[in-house]
Amino acid sequence: MELYLDTADVEEIREIASWGVVSGVTTNPTLIAREGRDFNKVIGEICSIVDGPVSAEVISTDRDGMIREAREQAKWHDNVVIKIPVCAEGLAAVSALEKEGIRCNVTLAFSAAQGYLAALAGASFVSPFVGRIDDTGADGMEVVAQLVEIFQTHGFDTRIIAASIRHPMHVLQAALAGAHIATVPCAVVRKLVSHPLTDRGLEKFLADWKGFSDSR
Ligand code: E4P
Repeated sequence: MELYLDTADVEEIREIASWGVVSGVTTNPTLIAREGRDFNKVIGEICSIVDGPVSAEVISTDRDGMIREAREQAKWHDNVVIKIPVCAEGLAAVSALEKEGIRCNVTLAFSAAQGYLAALAGASFVSPFVGRIDDTGADGMEVVAQLVEIFQTHGFDTRIIAASIRHPMHVLQAALAGAHIATVPCAVVRKLVSHPLTDRGLEKFLADWKGFSDSR
């Protein structure tokens, strides 16, 4: 399973990408607004840091508007993937854009049925929102598992991005369920890397080494 960063914070992306673990980035209008910077500048900077798919979302709600925005955003960089919400107009836009060679990430998916439609429309990616499904009392990871099974059984090429990831267990569960990608907030990636026993072990190794070298 590949790891994408779910953020528009360029400095965070630069730092975590330097660890060599990041294959792509997803943004959304909330994340871009949080940075308070020019949309295409932010996306351009992210593309200069991470050599992989970078999702930028449209804000139009009708197919023609989505297609217009998508064509514009696709010119920003070859790695830009267009995020389109799963709805009737969105599916129509996705099927037109994918035929033109513009890759789409169908977003705001909350059921396997929606994900199946995204695959039928030819989407390159679909993003089930695990954490937000969990918030409703349902099991978000179950949607990921169902999509994995459906896509494998029927030979769909659409890649599943486990999104709305809230904690390290979500990342592990997504990997075990067979998601192709998890898009993860930077704070959760930092939790993935740290373990108190690693800190304690390192402290002891260094103290022992210091005691040994001081005694020589
Ligand atoms: C996915 O691409 C979205 O940007 C994201 O995962 C949404 O997550 P949230 O529920 O934490 O806003």
